[in-house]
Amino acid sequence: MANSLNSHFFVVVFILSLLAFSSNAQLSPTFYAKTCPNVQTIVSSAMRQAVAKEARIGASILRLFFHDCFVNGCDGSILLDDTATFTGEKNAGPNRNSARGFEVIDTIKTNVEASCNATVSCADILALATRDGIVLLGGPSWTVPLGRRDARTASQSAANNQIPGPSSDLSTLISMFASKGLTASDLTVLSGAHTIGQAQCQFFRTRIYNETNIDTNFAATRKTTCPATGGNTNLAPLETLTPTRFDNNYYADLVNRRGLLHSDQVLFNGGSQDSLVRSYSGNSAAFSKDFAAAMVKLGNISPLTGSSGEIRRNCRVVN
Ligand code: HEM
Repeated sequence: MANSLNSHFFVVVFILSLLAFSSNAQLSPTFYAKTCPNVQTIVSSAMRQAVAKEARIGASILRLFFHDCFVNGCDGSILLDDTATFTGEKNAGPNRNSARGFEVIDTIKTNVEASCNATVSCADILALATRDGIVLLGGPSWTVPLGRRDARTASQSAANNQIPGPSSDLSTLISMFASKGLTASDLTVLSGAHTIGQAQCQFFRTRIYNETNIDTNFAATRKTTCPATGGNTNLAPLETLTPTRFDNNYYADLVNRRGLLHSDQVLFNGGSQDSLVRSYSGNSAAFSKDFAAAMVKLGNISPLTGSSGEIRRNCRVVN
């Protein structure tokens, strides 16, 4: 009797510990402590130069990370170039003529390889560069769990189907995030990434011409550079006041019906996320803290670890 109680106890403890660790596999912040102790310094110094040259690059790298993690996990798959025999994710709908920052990742990879040959994955470089870009633009910092390995394949169809589009409604966004293990609150706080960066006219035209839950002056201003026809690639800031500063102004925009994308404004349109949006709009510390935690969660989506995948030598091609 005592024995069977004991063994039940151990089974329960074992299952609980599996559950506790399953969400972040074997990632660890000290993964490269012995094998590439300077990796964080190398990445941050390259990011400092890149952001000094063009502030928007911090936003572009952040978006690359999101689009990497949402397609078969954070495995560097978005970084692979198409070849005659290989179709990757770069030319999927959400990325083509839109995803940018690949050259910066190449530069960082070259610098990291020069110090620690064949050791640090492209997926981890992207995770670190993303954090550093946000810090350089005035946003929160966090410790990045490391040890991801790089995919040997990519999936254009998964990129087409699993990355949400700008005309998505709230229920679609919530279910697309849920399918990656992220909650509605994670959706709302991660969308705060749109406090930095730019969007093309073709992605917000319908909103500024046809929607009614929009500030009239804001719509008029946006129409000056986003005509009803033509000008598809003309850019506008996703957040107007401080588009190169990582702050909580995105949420003030939403409260004032100045969300640029349809998928932004649905977070504050009489639905389940209104109260969280309102609270972030008045509490930048809460936004920073929750954003950092949600980025770690985003970065934990299905990493390749152990002997799966590989450490790519060149982020654009499989070894
Ligand atoms: C919730 C669903 C989301 C949708 C529908 C969406 C959609 C978009 C679209 C359409 C653009 C403009 C692309 C272009 O014009 O070329 C954009 C830009 C951007 N997105 Fe999102 N996004 C979402 C969530 C996120 C998340 C979760 C992050 C990061 C955590 C993120 C980070 C960014 C950044 C930083 C930019 C600016 C990129 C740049 O300036 O190069 N987005 N997004």
